[in-house]
Amino acid sequence: SVYENKHIASKMVAKRIAEVILKRQANGSNTILGLATGSTPVQVYDELIRLHKEEGLSFKKVITFNLDEYFPMDPSSKQSYVHFMNEVFFDHIDIPKENINIPDGTLDREKIIEFCLAYENKIENLGGLDLQILGIGRTGHVGFNEPGSAPNSGTRLVTLDDLTRQDASRDFGGKGNVPTKAITMGIGTIFKAKDIILMAWNTKKAAIVMKAVEGEISGEVPASFLQLAENIEFVIDTDAASEL
Ligand code: GLP
Repeated sequence: SVYENKHIASKMVAKRIAEVILKRQANGSNTILGLATGSTPVQVYDELIRLHKEEGLSFKKVITFNLDEYFPMDPSSKQSYVHFMNEVFFDHIDIPKENINIPDGTLDREKIIEFCLAYENKIENLGGLDLQILGIGRTGHVGFNEPGSAPNSGTRLVTLDDLTRQDASRDFGGKGNVPTKAITMGIGTIFKAKDIILMAWNTKKAAIVMKAVEGEISGEVPASFLQLAENIEFVIDTDAASEL
């Protein structure tokens, strides 16, 4: 769906998330949410915070799994996705701390595979992700699934693309300071979600949105694999849709 601007679009996405939470809450069930970082979902988090503060939406029965984290990364560092998520979302809602899951950027290298399998299993044992929200990077990545990612990939350690590190360089005060690796949920992990929403705003994303939505389905543009998902909605603003 194409919306006039990111504010209207983000409100719609937040409303859908709230509906899932309320419906599952009514059955006494937890809601398992897959969350994303970057600037794209920030207005969705803003709107969810507003729904919490003004309309009493509770996150006590919400369990979250973030897509990715840089590696290595100290969670107390300003550039960590742990810090980002606390700042833009978790610190402003009533989610229990133990319900928050974010890939661990502090692991010893030999512990990573075990951690990634446990991350997948935890999601699965909870009944799977009810809804996964996604942004898209200019390389066509979702999470940190860079070009070359397999459609059935799971949570794993990956190497970041040069363009991705370039785009992150402002946050880190120079590209040389951007970690070269990350832990990310896989394309396969994302596919298992009951619903997927990919969001994109601004003309900066128009070219990659065109490739992801209308282009050839290929590992060169990992987001293009989402064309094969039945439960996907691309939520974009008119600027990001300008090349469609
Ligand atoms: C990072 C994140 C992605 C995100 C992308 C786009 O690379 N790992 O999950 O989609 O940035 O960032 P932005 O939303 O700021 O354009």
